[in-house]
Parts: sequence; C-alpha cells; structure tokens
Amino acid sequence: MTEKDITHVSEAQIAVHWQEEDYFYPSMQFIAQANMTDPAIYEKFSLDNFPNCYKAYADLLEWDEYWHTILDTSDAPCWKWFVGGRINASHNCIDRHLAKNRNKTAIHFVPELEEEKVEHITYQELWVRVNEFTALLRDFAGLKAGDRATLHMPMSAELPITMLACARLGVIHSEVFGGFSGRACADRIVDSKSNVLITMDAYYRSGTLLDHKKNADIAVELAAKDGQTVNKVLVWQRYPGKSSTPTPMVKGRDFFINEELKRFYGKRVKPVSMPAEAPLFLMYTSGTTGKPKGCQHSTGGYLAYVTGTSKFVQDIHPEDVYWCMADIGWITGHSYIVYGPLSLCASTVIYEGVPNYPDAGRPWRIAQDLGVNIFHTAPTAIRALRKIGPDEPAKYNYHFKHMTTVGEPIEPEVWKWYYKEVGKGEAIIVDTWWQTETGGFLCSTLPAITPMKPGSAGPSLPGIHPVIYDEDGNELPAGCGRAGNICIRNPWPGGFQTIWGDRNRFVQNYYARYCKDPKSKRWQDWPYLTGDAAVQAKDGYYRILGRIDDVINVSGHRLGTKEIESAALIVPEVAEAAVVPVAHEIKGKEPDLYIALKPGFDASPELEKKISDAVCNEIGKIAKPRRVWIVKDMPKTRSGKIMRRVLAAISNKKDVGDVTTLANPNIVDEIKAMVK
Ligand code: PRX
Repeated sequence: MTEKDITHVSEAQIAVHWQEEDYFYPSMQFIAQANMTDPAIYEKFSLDNFPNCYKAYADLLEWDEYWHTILDTSDAPCWKWFVGGRINASHNCIDRHLAKNRNKTAIHFVPELEEEKVEHITYQELWVRVNEFTALLRDFAGLKAGDRATLHMPMSAELPITMLACARLGVIHSEVFGGFSGRACADRIVDSKSNVLITMDAYYRSGTLLDHKKNADIAVELAAKDGQTVNKVLVWQRYPGKSSTPTPMVKGRDFFINEELKRFYGKRVKPVSMPAEAPLFLMYTSGTTGKPKGCQHSTGGYLAYVTGTSKFVQDIHPEDVYWCMADIGWITGHSYIVYGPLSLCASTVIYEGVPNYPDAGRPWRIAQDLGVNIFHTAPTAIRALRKIGPDEPAKYNYHFKHMTTVGEPIEPEVWKWYYKEVGKGEAIIVDTWWQTETGGFLCSTLPAITPMKPGSAGPSLPGIHPVIYDEDGNELPAGCGRAGNICIRNPWPGGFQTIWGDRNRFVQNYYARYCKDPKSKRWQDWPYLTGDAAVQAKDGYYRILGRIDDVINVSGHRLGTKEIESAALIVPEVAEAAVVPVAHEIKGKEPDLYIALKPGFDASPELEKKISDAVCNEIGKIAKPRRVWIVKDMPKTRSGKIMRRVLAAISNKKDVGDVTTLANPNIVDEIKAMVK
C-alpha cells in the first residue's frame, strides 16, 4: 500500500464512523420573507437547462452593454461567461443604488477599541470617497485598466474603498491578507507585476496598535531583489493626519493618501466599462507546490455569481444588516463582505479586530448595537466563542434570521451550539462549501427550501453538478456513502478564469486528472477537480472530509505544507523539514514541524525558536508551528521519501501502523518518545 492509499482508507473510515444527523427545518417566519422559495429552482438550473439558466444571475446586474453569448468554451478549460457584455463592478456596487438608497448605510466600520466611534458610511459617502480615490489612482499613481495593484491592507473601510476604486478603473486588485508577512506580500507583488502597493500604517489587533508600514518596506525591498520595482507606496493612515507608525516614509516613493487626496476632493470619475471577461481581481491561494497561485477572477461572471448566491443563499435583502466576520484579505471577504452584499445594496459590517477583544461578548454587542440580522463566520471562531463565552450570546438583545458557517467541516456538536446559543433557535444556518478558486458557494442548503443537517454542507447549489470519482476515475454511485474526490461536472460563472500567468499549471492542477480528452472544446469533458474528499449521503447531501493534497487548513485558511517547509529550510542549520497537521480544538488543524539538522549542528530551544520565527517571517503568524521537533532523522521509505503519514500519526497520538518497511524503522520509536 502506498502512502496515498493509506490516507484514502482513513478518509473513508471517517465517513463510515460519522453518524447521520437529523434534519432541522427553517421557521415559517424565515420562509415567509425568503428570496428563494421556489422548489422548481433545482429543475430550472438542471443540466438540461445549462448554461442558459445563469441568465437569471446576469440579470441581477446592470450592464452597460448586454452580452450575446452566455458561455464560450472555445478556449477550454478557460471558460468565458457573458461574452460581448460590458460592465463595471464599482458601478454595480455603488452608483446604481444611489437613486433609491443614497442615504442608506453601505458600510458600518467597527474599530477594535470599543471607546472609538463606529463609522457609518452611506452609499453617497462611499460614492464620493471611491470617486476621489479613483481619481488619485488614475492621475497620481498612473494606474489604468488592466494594470495590477497590490493591496496589503487590514480590515478597514478603506479596504473596500480601495478595491472599488480599482474596479472603477478596471485595475486588477490583488489584496494580500493583512496578517501576511512582508515576504509573502513581496512574492505576490512580483508574481502579479504590480508597481503600486497600497497599504495602511497601522491597525489594532487584540488591543495593540500594530505597525503595518514596516511590512511595506520589507515587501518593496524584497520585490526589487526579485526584479519587480514598486514606484509608489500609497499609505492610508489609521488616524488621518496622524502617524501611527515609527517606520519612516521613503521620500519620492511613499505617500500618505490622506494628504494627496486633498487635491482630488470633489473629483468624479466615470466607471470604465469593462468587458465581462476582464479580470476583476487576483486572490492568491496555497497549492501543492511552494508558489502561491494567483486565482484570476472575472468581472461579469464573478459579480453575477456572488450577487446571485448572496441573494439566494445568504438571503440578503437591501434592508438587512449583514456581518461576515471573515477577513476581506481572503476570498470570503471579497465575495461576501464586499462584492455580494454591496451589489445587493445591503449594509455590510467591517470589524477591525479579533472576536474576543476585549471579551467574549464583543461580537454580540456589535450585533445588538448595529441591528445585525445576518451573521457569517467559520467553525474556528465558533469553537473559540463557545469555549470562552458559552453563555454570552443570551445576554444580548440581537436577533439573527440567518447564519453561515464556512471554511472547514463543522462538528455537529459545534453546529448545534451555534444554532441554539448564537442563533437562539431562531436563525437558519447555511454550511457553505467552496474555495478561493470557485468565487462563490458550491454546496449549501437553500435556506427556505432544503432542511439543514449538522455537519453536512448539503446538496449542491442550483446549477452546480458535482460528481465523486474514485482514484481510478470511476464515478461513485450517487448517494453511496463512500468517500472519493469531489469534482464539478460543469462550469459556473463564479469560477476562476486561470492561474495568473500560468495557464499550464491551471490545467494541470484542476483539470488534467479527470479530463476525458485534452483536445476537447466541450465543457462536458472537463470536470473541475476541487482537491477535496467528500461523501454523498442517500439524501444527496455532501459531507466534505478535507483536502486530498498537501494543504493544511488552519483556522479555515489554506496553508501549503511546502510553503512552511521551504520557510524552515531558509534557516542555515536545517537539512530537512516536514510539516504535518495536528488536530486542534479551536483552530481545527495546526502545523507540527519536524526538522533534521545538517551534520555538526545540535538541537536547542534557541534553534527551535529561530526556525519557528523564520516561518512567521516568511508567511505570517498564521503559519506558526505548534511545535518544532528537531529529530535525529526523518522516517523514510527506502527510496528516501519522508513518511509524513508516520509523523502525523505520532503528532496526533495515533497508531503509526506498520513501519517495518521503512529504511530506518527504529527512528519511529525515538521520535514517539520525544513527542510524548
Ligand atoms: O477543504 C475545503 C475547505 O476549505 C477549502 C477552501 O479553502 P479556501 O480556498 O481558503 O477558501 C475558504 C473559504 C471558502 C476547501 O477546499 N472548506 C471550505 N468551506 C468548507 C470547507 N470544508 C468543509 N465545509 C465547508 N463549509
């Protein structure tokens, strides 16, 4: 049995041991107001009606020029949606709402410090600020349609303003999660060939004002070494007019946006009409090899898909106050804090800080004070809030009609706590399964139509047609309850267009495995490989089991094991590095890092720290290993392959299985003794 086979057997076993849960039903009150109550919707979006069914999503938008071809497959598997159409995302998220809802709040910005004032930005104010910043980007930074701008911004109102200003010009934004290091930012600047970096001087996290400007300096310096020059660094100030960072500004390169903006007050910029297939943004994500992949998302197809799913799955109405507690630096934030909700003219909440600052009641105070009625978060946050403040939600007078969980499988017990305590038994829950690549949801219950089942994402969305393959490419019978690789048979408008600058990798990573004919121009021959293992129950609901590739999901964020290992290998003493996921009560998974040193070096706590710091510096604190274990040797196959499976079993205190065929079986007991 190979290493891979063993992993797959254990996934199937999880499936078998996981009990089927009972259904929970939506309340009549919810159904009465729901955006989607037509059970025939599944039929309307069946494969027989594909791709024309997606006209309904396109028609949620305002087009400058209506499209003529709904789906063009001639460049398979780079699908083109709504070809011939011209559209602007900034117009659709702002301008089109002004006539009716000028004075409605578009964004509630909640600073982490409770003594600071919450900012309520109306659609009118958003329009003014986006217009002025657009003028600055065009006339001062020299950006034009098709250019890339890298953003390295924390949770702030200025982040969506920046994104929407880029979109207004057709500039492709590439936001790097604020918690990522300067190094990670540099890699993304280089890959996207950006010559403008937009950042913020500082932000609050757990009560501390962090210096963020320093990361920009590191990023620009490292990018230059890799051949990419950044001409301008535009810096928003956390407190306009006041510096919050000790890191100095570089003359001629760095500019405070608040200062420069003064020259653009009152300026208005007409949204640039972009082809539907023009890229709207890049979002980098981890894959099996070291280099992050820039997922390229389109303007028309993406916006149509996130608007449609926000309306029908998130059940957003214009009068709702919607709070997604994700970070805008991830795809969830792009699709379901910024583009989806704003396109539907909702009020979207942006919270700067951590959920437990200054105490575990904070999220529920925010919900109460702003009248939030739709709430969206991840299992890792739910587990944390359940642990530190199980009785907190009941103390506050808020009422959710709808809640979302996303990012990793949720344990049924945690789901039930979310339902009963956070939702007070009144709110429906959608467990939305999707990915950076997919732009929007793939599987979820439709809240007023299909009942909830704890721990299960639910059926696929209308218009999404999954198939589960086994290792040999055979289709598993629908509802058979066996685990396999879940793929999607058909394209959908939200899917990414390609990996930025690397079409070959796009095809190899996502389509090569189950492609029926590499020359084919028919979408039917190109199932999309999600990289997740899943089982389908008899009722058609999908349960997602986790990644099949070398990716660890920490607190709902995908981290490549290779990225972490490469970071460790920067430390000169390190000869070999192996990362394995360890189960963690709150985060879901944490990386454990095994290290073998070069000859002549000895293990020490200082060296462990140096290696751990290297990982944080290269990638960010999110990748910090639980432990660095410096071992004498790695368990290896006779061909010299590190047996990560064995290390994972040791870290998780599980049976390591048969290790007699290893090149060095004795090392296993030694490592076991150490990790104990
Ligand atoms: O393994 C799946 C897991 O997160 C992966 C996608 O991660 P990322 O691209 O960072 O996007 C996160 C937000 C969409 C998936 O391949 N995942 C995501 N949502 C769920 C999930 N696993 C189980 N249930 C979910 N609801």
